[in-house]
Amino acid sequence: MNDTILHVQDIYKSFDGNGVLRGVSMEIREGEVVVIVGPSGCGKSTLLRCINGLEVIDSGSIYLRDEKISGRTKDLHLVRQKIGMVFQSYDLFPHMKVMDNLLLGPTKALNKSKTEVEKEALEMLERVGLKEKAYALPRTLSGGQKQRVALVRAMLMRPEILLLDEITAALDPEMVSEVLNVVIDLARGGMTMAIVTHEMRFAEAVADRVVFLEDGMIMEEGKPEEFFSAPKTQRAQHFLQSFTYASKRDKKSDKNNFED
Ligand SMILES: Nc1ncnc2c1ncn2[C@@H]1O[C@H](COP(=O)(O)OP(=O)(O)OP(=O)(O)O)[C@@H](O)[C@H]1O
Ligand SMILES: [Mg+2]
Repeated sequence: MNDTILHVQDIYKSFDGNGVLRGVSMEIREGEVVVIVGPSGCGKSTLLRCINGLEVIDSGSIYLRDEKISGRTKDLHLVRQKIGMVFQSYDLFPHMKVMDNLLLGPTKALNKSKTEVEKEALEMLERVGLKEKAYALPRTLSGGQKQRVALVRAMLMRPEILLLDEITAALDPEMVSEVLNVVIDLARGGMTMAIVTHEMRFAEAVADRVVFLEDGMIMEEGKPEEFFSAPKTQRAQHFLQSFTYASKRDKKSDKNNFED
């Protein structure tokens, strides 16, 4: 049986003549967590944005299960429903309570009943430690809390795959682990994910496979234990060395428990 959820096949994308993705191919299997790392500007966000159709690719193809999703215009919204995405900035509607933010997608796009979704939303909020915030306005929440709500909102759409683009990059350090622990939890629950992060210890903890992207090409990929302890290419070695300072600093104020 073919358990491939996502198949990216030789995709190219350029902006104003600059090749940003230059022949990227990868597959993600059901339940697999793939972490994409690489230097700033190497094309990580562009890759995720191409996968969920926010950017149109120049060539190549993208399949979700057996369905070709690239090159479509008509029913793109149906495809997007199956691909959840959470960004650095939690884009909750500020004038709507947390619950109304959560209800919007499933009731409008999936035609689910409000009662059903509300029940499910409360269960999920409880799991991420936010049940008491269900009827609060987003501005009364911390960044870490908002980002956990954003994860719940994405999950309520029951996506086939979840794409996370640096979801902790805008957070104060003490809020990072509370968000990453939710992601670890989702991974343990079997959620298929493609994650872009600069949190290398988290990457090591959550990844089934690490993909190292540079200049729009996959330079190396492998199991996290191999990639982080013995990267094969010099470029990956060099990239990982640049995190030495950050990881020492992390240890000094270590509140993270996502490695347990
Ligand atoms: N809409 C756009 N128009 C023009 N150039 C773009 C656009 N989006 C991205 N780029 C360029 O494409 C390259 C890759 O950008 P991308 O955001 O994918 O990098 P990244 O790997 O996510 O970097 P970072 O780690 O800093 O988030 C950059 O040079 C960027 O300036
Ligand atoms: Mg980016």
